[in-house]
Amino acid sequence: MQSFLITGGAGFIGSNFIIYMLKNNQNIMIINVDKLTYAGNLDNLKEINNNSNYKFINADICNEKAITKVFNEYEIDYVINFAAESHVDKSIANPKLFVKTNVLGTINLLNIAKKFWQIEAGFKKNKKFIQISTDEVYGSLGDTGYFTEKTPLDPHSPYSASKASADLIVKSYFETYKMPINITRCSNNYGPYQYPEKLIPLIINNCLKQKPLPIYGDGLNVRDWLYVLDHCKAIGMVIKDGNIGEIYNVGGHNEKTNLQLVKTIIKYLNKNFDPTITEELIEYVEDRKGHDRRYAIDSTKIKTELGWKPQTSFEKGIIKTINWYLQNINWLEKISTS
Ligand SMILES: NC(=O)c1ccc[n+]([C@@H]2O[C@H](COP(=O)([O-])OP(=O)(O)OC[C@H]3O[C@@H](n4cnc5c(N)ncnc54)[C@H](O)[C@@H]3O)[C@@H](O)[C@H]2O)c1
Repeated sequence: MQSFLITGGAGFIGSNFIIYMLKNNQNIMIINVDKLTYAGNLDNLKEINNNSNYKFINADICNEKAITKVFNEYEIDYVINFAAESHVDKSIANPKLFVKTNVLGTINLLNIAKKFWQIEAGFKKNKKFIQISTDEVYGSLGDTGYFTEKTPLDPHSPYSASKASADLIVKSYFETYKMPINITRCSNNYGPYQYPEKLIPLIINNCLKQKPLPIYGDGLNVRDWLYVLDHCKAIGMVIKDGNIGEIYNVGGHNEKTNLQLVKTIIKYLNKNFDPTITEELIEYVEDRKGHDRRYAIDSTKIKTELGWKPQTSFEKGIIKTINWYLQNINWLEKISTS
């Protein structure tokens, strides 16, 4: 039986990933280590809570003693590090917290995994550390071009700088110790269980409450949207077949301006939920400091090397997502008032 230490598994992508893994694999053990910050929510995992192949541990990835205890109790084969402070606006207000969790937390996990996995001849077989990173480490694009894995790192926010720092540390453990690692850099995810500080659930939530829909600057910043389950599949493939030491970009090839995205949500809700939800709710607000203009990912490497491709078109994924939030208004209500 393979054991996976998933950090940040009570957050948006981590919880989707745990459910995905347990649905698609019989013979695995998942240990979810999460500090349960404001972004962590065990309700996301209700459907697998009683699964005997799943265990939750409330701990901070920065805590050496707690993480060592996990490695002592379980023979961990894979670490998938989702745990992070993940909201750019919060990083502008409190950068130090981002360095602590995203950089120091990552090196703590690396050191403990290395201690348990290293043997005289190198590393034990079938062990791997996977760092879940972001396309934001590459900075911002103009109107054309794509980020490849070779694009130089040029992060602009304290959030993306902390993620880029963590990536460099993870890579250095491969270069220095030959520790088995992979890094994945994905574009903006969307889907169920996303905390409503992020654009899509924020807009849905505000529409439902007839609250203003804040749009930064001119609303023309472009993001490449990736349905969270497509991302989970990509991570599964990297775990299994990713070449040691390699970085894989994962993108949805769904470039939309923020304004296009918001209008799509309004249109759907207006037609299918409440005709009083209209574009009049849109409110342009002062632009985010250092706001990156465009992100777009070239996923050629993961497609050609591992055979991954996104299966959910934006048109289908966004409807699935809006409907999920409509069917889970209680979840949205509870999380946005807690
Ligand atoms: N959401 C996206 O669109 C996106 C895009 C690119 C990359 N990423 C990366 O994917 C990962 C997951 O993102 P997400 O959107 O699910 O984030 P999230 O904010 O929804 O969840 C983060 C989780 O980490 C936990 N956590 C925070 N600090 C911790 C600590 N010190 N110890 C243990 N747990 C801690 C939180 O409680 C929460 O459950 C992050 O590393 C993020 O940088 C996300």
